[in-house]
Amino acid sequence: MADTPPETPKRRSGKKRLIFVVILILVTAAALAVGISLNLTLKDDEDDTASVPVKTARFLVNCHPDNDASKSRCEERGCIWVERTDADKKPKCSFPEAYGYKMAGDPEEHAHGVKVMLTRIDTPPLYGMTPYINLTVAVEFHTDKRLRIKIMPTDVHRFEIPEEAINITSPSQPPSNETRLYDVTFQTDPVFGLSVTRRSTNATIFNTSLPGLAFYPQLLQVSVLLQNSYVYGFGEHKHMSFRHDMNYRRWSIFTRDEAPVHDWNLYGAQPVYMNVEDEGKANLVFLKNSNALEVFLQPDPSITFRSIGGVLDFYVFLGDSPGEAVSLYTKAVGQPVLPPYWALGYQLSRWGYTNISDMWMVINRTRAAQIPYDVQWADIDSLFKQFIFTYDRSEWAGMPDLIQDLHDHHQHFIIIVDPGVGANQTIIAQAKNNSGPEYNMYEDGEQAGIFVKDANGDTLIGEVWPGLTAYPDFTNQSVVDWYEKYVRFYREHENITVDALWIDMNEPSSFVPGSIHGCNRTTWDYPPYVPQILGADPDGKMFDKTMCMTAQQAWGQHYDVHSLYAHAMAMRTDEVLKRVFPGKRPWTMTRSNFAGTGHYATKWMGDNRSWWSQMHLSIIGIMEYSLFGFSFNGADICGFWRETTYEMCLRWHQLGAFYPFARNHNAKGPGETTDFKHQDPGAFDQRFIDIVKQPLMTRYRLLPYLYTLLYKAHLEGDTVMRPLMFDFPADLKARDVDRQFLLGSALLISPVLEPNVTNVEAYFPKARWYEYNTGEEVTSVGQTNNLYTPLEKFNLHLRGGHVIPWQTPALTTYESRKKDMGLIVALDENWKAQGELFLDDGESDVNDTSYSTISFQMEKAGEMKIIPKKIDYSPSEPLQFETIEIYGLSALPQSVFVDGVLHSQQNIRYFNKVVQIIGLQWSVLGSHNITWSVY
Ligand code: GLC
Repeated sequence: MADTPPETPKRRSGKKRLIFVVILILVTAAALAVGISLNLTLKDDEDDTASVPVKTARFLVNCHPDNDASKSRCEERGCIWVERTDADKKPKCSFPEAYGYKMAGDPEEHAHGVKVMLTRIDTPPLYGMTPYINLTVAVEFHTDKRLRIKIMPTDVHRFEIPEEAINITSPSQPPSNETRLYDVTFQTDPVFGLSVTRRSTNATIFNTSLPGLAFYPQLLQVSVLLQNSYVYGFGEHKHMSFRHDMNYRRWSIFTRDEAPVHDWNLYGAQPVYMNVEDEGKANLVFLKNSNALEVFLQPDPSITFRSIGGVLDFYVFLGDSPGEAVSLYTKAVGQPVLPPYWALGYQLSRWGYTNISDMWMVINRTRAAQIPYDVQWADIDSLFKQFIFTYDRSEWAGMPDLIQDLHDHHQHFIIIVDPGVGANQTIIAQAKNNSGPEYNMYEDGEQAGIFVKDANGDTLIGEVWPGLTAYPDFTNQSVVDWYEKYVRFYREHENITVDALWIDMNEPSSFVPGSIHGCNRTTWDYPPYVPQILGADPDGKMFDKTMCMTAQQAWGQHYDVHSLYAHAMAMRTDEVLKRVFPGKRPWTMTRSNFAGTGHYATKWMGDNRSWWSQMHLSIIGIMEYSLFGFSFNGADICGFWRETTYEMCLRWHQLGAFYPFARNHNAKGPGETTDFKHQDPGAFDQRFIDIVKQPLMTRYRLLPYLYTLLYKAHLEGDTVMRPLMFDFPADLKARDVDRQFLLGSALLISPVLEPNVTNVEAYFPKARWYEYNTGEEVTSVGQTNNLYTPLEKFNLHLRGGHVIPWQTPALTTYESRKKDMGLIVALDENWKAQGELFLDDGESDVNDTSYSTISFQMEKAGEMKIIPKKIDYSPSEPLQFETIEIYGLSALPQSVFVDGVLHSQQNIRYFNKVVQIIGLQWSVLGSHNITWSVY
C-alpha cells in the first residue's frame, strides 16, 4: 500500500504556520482559508428560541439524552429547547453555540506536536458535578499517518488504560513537517475546536469545533465533525447495516453478556470507527477509553462521544484506503493472532450434548457421512457441576479416550473456560470427590490473592453456571501461575488434553446484579449520568448482569476496567497456553473483547438466533470485527438459540463455509426436556449432507489461500473477511453492500440469506469476475446481477488479477495438507494475475525463520513466474503443485511451455470455461515458469 505522496506546494514552516492559522481564525472566525469547514451560524428554523439568551448552534449536540427531558430541565443546563414531533429525530434539547471551552493562550508547539490549554466558558454545570475548569489538549504527531489527540484536565491525574493492556508507543522521531499527511489547526470562537485535515485533499478528518465539550469527574463529552457520512464500526452491537445510519442514532459501549438481538451494548467494547473519505481514502479513529460510553451519530455528519470516566484519548490513522487504515491501526494496538492451521477446518459444537454417548454419536455420524471435520468442542455440559477444568466422571466417563480418539484421527478438541470459579463449599467438596483432592481452584486462588475484591477488600462473589463464583483478576500478573496450574492439571491429571481454549462469559457475566450482596449506593455504581446501557433503567445502576463497579482489580476500579476484563483474560490465556505448549502457537477463542484483543484471541459472534435475519447480521458483525483487528471470526452456523430448519441450516452452511472461522454450534434449549434438536449435518438427510459437503469441500480446497490471508493479517494487519468497499472504496455503490463479502481480494461470496428463494441480487464492482465452479465470466459489471441459486448452489466468484493457491481437499486439514496443490489464475483485463502463498508447519510459533513464501507473478500476459521469496520452512514430505487452472481465456492456448519445455497437449484441457494444465509435478518450493500463447 503506497503512501500518498506529500504535497509539494510552498508551506510555511510548522511554527509559523501554526501561529498564522491561529491568528487567522481569531481574526476572521471563518477559518475557511485554512481548511476548517465550520460555519456556526443561526439557523432560521430554530429561531423559536429567541427568548433564550444563547445562540443556537448549527450542529445539534444532544444536551439531554437522559430521561425526562423538558424545556425547564434543558434550560437549567444552559441549553436550548426546541419543540419537535416524535418523528423528528433531532434532539429537542441541544447545546448552544458557545458552550464549551476557549483557548487560554496560544498553542505551544513542541518537537512531537502541539499543546493547548483551555479554560471553560461559564455555563451551568451538568448533573450536579463540578466541571474541570482547565483542560490540556495534547496533540502528538506520531507518524506521517498517525496522530494522537488527548484531552485531559490540567494537573489532575485520572484513570488511563495501563500500558500493559495496550501500549501504543510514540515513535522517538516525530514525522517531518513536510511528509506528514495531515494538518492540525485550532479555533477558539465561539468555542475551542481542533481540526485535522488531510493535506492532499483538504478532507476534514477530525474536527472538534462543535459545541458541548464537557469534562467532569464522571462525564466527558466531545463532538467530532467528519467529511461525509460513510461511517463504519463501533461495537459490539447488532447493526442492521454495515454503513451506519447517521440520523441521530445512539449506541452505547460497555461489555455485556447480551445476545445480538436488540440494539443494546453487547459482549465487546470497540470504540473504533472508520470514515471513508470522498476519494476513497479512509481514516480510522480509536478512542482509547475503557469506561462506559456512548456515541451519538448525527447527520451533520458528526459523532458525539460521551464517556463517564478516564480521559479523551483519540488515535487517528490516515489510510490511503480502508485496508491501510485498519493495518495502521492494528500495527498500533496489535496485529491479529494467527490460529493454527487445523483451526481453519470445519468444527462441531453444542451446548446440550446430553452425555458422552451423545457426543460420540455426533462424531461417528459426521465421520460416516464423510464430512470434512477438524475440531470437536465441549461446552459446560461435560464439566462436573459446571466447574471449570473438571469433567463429570459419571455422565462423561471415558472423556479422555474420546479426546485420544479425536487426536488419533488428527482431529482436535477444545473446551470452554468461563472465568467464574465455583465457590460453593458443598459443591467444591463434591468436585474434589469427582476430580480428586488436587482440585483446589478456589482455595488456591484465595491463597494466591488473585480474585477480584469487593469494596471492602473481600473476594467478590457473584453467580454464574457453577452457582456461587469468584472471579479471577486477570489484570493481576500473578493470576498466570494459578491459571497455568489448572490448565496443566486438566491435561495431565484429568487427561483432558485440550488443544485450545474457549473463553466465555467474560464480560464478566453474573446472574446476580453486582454480587450476592448487591452493591452499595455509590457514585460508581449509580453515576450521576448513566449511559443508555442495558439494565441501567429504571434505577440507574451500572452493575446489572455483572459485578459491582466498586470491585477492585490490579488495573483499577471495576468502574474503569470493566470492559477490559476479557482483554486481560485473553492476554493471560495466551500467556498460559504459550507456557503449556512451548514453541507452539496458542489459540484462544473469546466472546468479550476490547480494542486490541485480536492480538491475543479470535472472536465468534456469540449467541445468535436460528433466524434468517441473523445470517445477514453475521456478515455485518464479522466484517466489523475485521475492522477492529480480528481476522479469524465466525458466527454459530445454523444459529445458536432456537431450532434451526432444514433450509436455513443448509443455506447457513453455504455461508458459514466461508466465514474465516467455521463452527456449527447450538444451544441446549430452555428446559431439561425441551432441548433444541441437533443441527450437525449428520442430523439431516443424505441430500442435506451431499449439498453442504460442496461448500465445505470448497473451503478445504481453498485453505492455502485462507491461511495466506490470515498470515498477512498477522504480519501486516490485512483484513480477511471484508466488505466490497475495502477493495472498491471509490465505488459509492460498494460502500453500502453488506449482504455479500470478500475473502481477501480474490473471493466474492454472495449468499442466499432468505427462505424460499432461488435468486440472489449480487453487486459486481467493475473488475473481471468468474464463477468459481464453471469459470463463466460475469458479463455485466458495475451493477447488480440476479444470480440463479437453487438449493444445491452457492455463489462464489473469483476476481480477475489474482492467483489463488489451493490444495486437494480431504476430511481433515492434516490429510489435506499432504495432498497435491494447484493454482487458480484468474486473469484481469490485462490478462495478468498475481498472488502469494505462505507455508509453514501450521502450528509452531511464527518467527522470521518459521515460514516460506512463494510469489506468483506475471509481468507479461501469458507468462507466470513462480518465485520462492523466502525459504525457511520445507514440508516434511514432498509437496507439489500439480495443476494450474486459468480463468479468463476463451479457448485452449495454442501451446504451453512449462519451465521452457513444450507441455504435452494431453495435459492441457478446457473444462467448462477453465483451462486446466495438469501434470506439472513442481516442488512447491522451486522456481518455475509457465507460458501460454494467447490468441
Ligand atoms: C454462553 C455462550 C454459548 C455457550 C453457553 C453455555 O451463552 O455464548 O456459546 O454455549 O454460554 O456455555
